[in-house]
Amino acid sequence: MANLRTNFLGVEIKNPVGVTSCDYGGHAWLAKRVIDQGIGWLVAKTVHKIDGPHRWPRPFFYSLKKFGPELKDSWVCSQMFHNMPYDQWLETEGPKTLKLCRDNDVLFIASVSGIGTDAESWTSLCKDMENMGCDMIELDTGGPHATFGAEEAHKDVGAPLALDPETAYMVTKACVDSVKVPVIFKMTPQCVNTAALALAVEKAGAEAISANNAFYGTWIDHETGTFYGGPYSSGGLMGRAWQLFSLAKVLEVTATVKIPVIGIGGIFTWDDCVRYLMGGCQVAGLCSAVYSRGVGVLKDAIEGMSAFMDRKGYKSVDEFTGICVKDFSYIRDWPREESPMAHPTPIIPVYDLEKCNRCGICEKVCPYGAIELDKEAGPVINDQCFGCAWCQGHCPKDAVSMVLKETGELVWNGRGLPKKWVK
Ligand SMILES: Cc1cc2nc3c(=O)[nH]c(=O)nc-3n(C[C@H](O)[C@H](O)[C@H](O)COP(=O)(O)O)c2cc1C
Repeated sequence: MANLRTNFLGVEIKNPVGVTSCDYGGHAWLAKRVIDQGIGWLVAKTVHKIDGPHRWPRPFFYSLKKFGPELKDSWVCSQMFHNMPYDQWLETEGPKTLKLCRDNDVLFIASVSGIGTDAESWTSLCKDMENMGCDMIELDTGGPHATFGAEEAHKDVGAPLALDPETAYMVTKACVDSVKVPVIFKMTPQCVNTAALALAVEKAGAEAISANNAFYGTWIDHETGTFYGGPYSSGGLMGRAWQLFSLAKVLEVTATVKIPVIGIGGIFTWDDCVRYLMGGCQVAGLCSAVYSRGVGVLKDAIEGMSAFMDRKGYKSVDEFTGICVKDFSYIRDWPREESPMAHPTPIIPVYDLEKCNRCGICEKVCPYGAIELDKEAGPVINDQCFGCAWCQGHCPKDAVSMVLKETGELVWNGRGLPKKWVK
């Protein structure tokens, strides 16, 4: 087993894999289920004093599995903040969960939500969490639910606070000033000016950022001609695929601020964890994967990361944390051809005809109709080819490489970055 021990905000943790705010941090008996999988940290379910978000419309988990295999991990989720009254949690499940974490070498992060721009409503919760003995406090400012249909007094609960840098600064600063333990700001992927918001909370003294909360989602059941699960936009655009989006937002944060980042969003596997770490996050958190695939995904992620490190010869997670951040750039900065782009393309696919099994998938998916399959000779490329590499990505035999037509020089073999071939 590789050495996965790492450091988060000055606390040594046994590994960077954790569970983000959800049911599993809400009750000690649920926390035990994920702690037993060997996680390094756990965020509590968001606690609050707001009447509304703790009364979930039951049922509240509506799987989209029946609408297609690619949606198997997606769902409409109308569960909101902790359903347990605040004082009850503070006296019972909170301390019990904290003790369980202490006994098992798991970092415990509390999660709170005040009411919109009312700073006092946030700071009073932060003080309670500190008095309870929590290691750190996460401000759940990016929750996707409470905005729509909330009562007038609570209209600012949830995402709006995480969309406006000034408001985020004001609330974060008040919280930071109210306690000694580190305060972590949780972002929403709905935020457009992500970098500006991250800078604002860093300036306010937040010691870390969690990125990201869940995305809004809704679904229509075409068979019944009604909404599916609930006629509202709720936090439910889950699934591994939305990692692409969350990771891009996370890079906007890690490439901008110096404070540590908890990477979240569509993490299902060990390599997803590694990806977020390489993208500059100090730790990686799973949430909906635990619901979709069971608590065992956590142990698999930890063991998979360990095997990866052994295979690559990494002695510690620090060795690969952040290695991709310096390369994060704008598409406009990538070397491009003179205008107009040459046609026919100077970049073409070449096939390893030993590997090619003549399945014809490349012919079928080529957007430009540039491939004709000769069952004997293999795929034949015509002048309609744009050099896009779609055939490379779809080849089940990994038989395609992208090369410079003129010299045969390799441009992309299907892994990592293509060669910067434009001089
Ligand atoms: C069932 C469920 C409950 C959640 N409850 C909370 C919550 O109380 N507070 C919070 O900050 N985030 C909450 N989240 C959001 C997650 O912590 C996480 O940020 C989000 O789901 C994205 O991660 P994922 O793609 O791994 O699911 C919840 C998510 C789910 C699926």
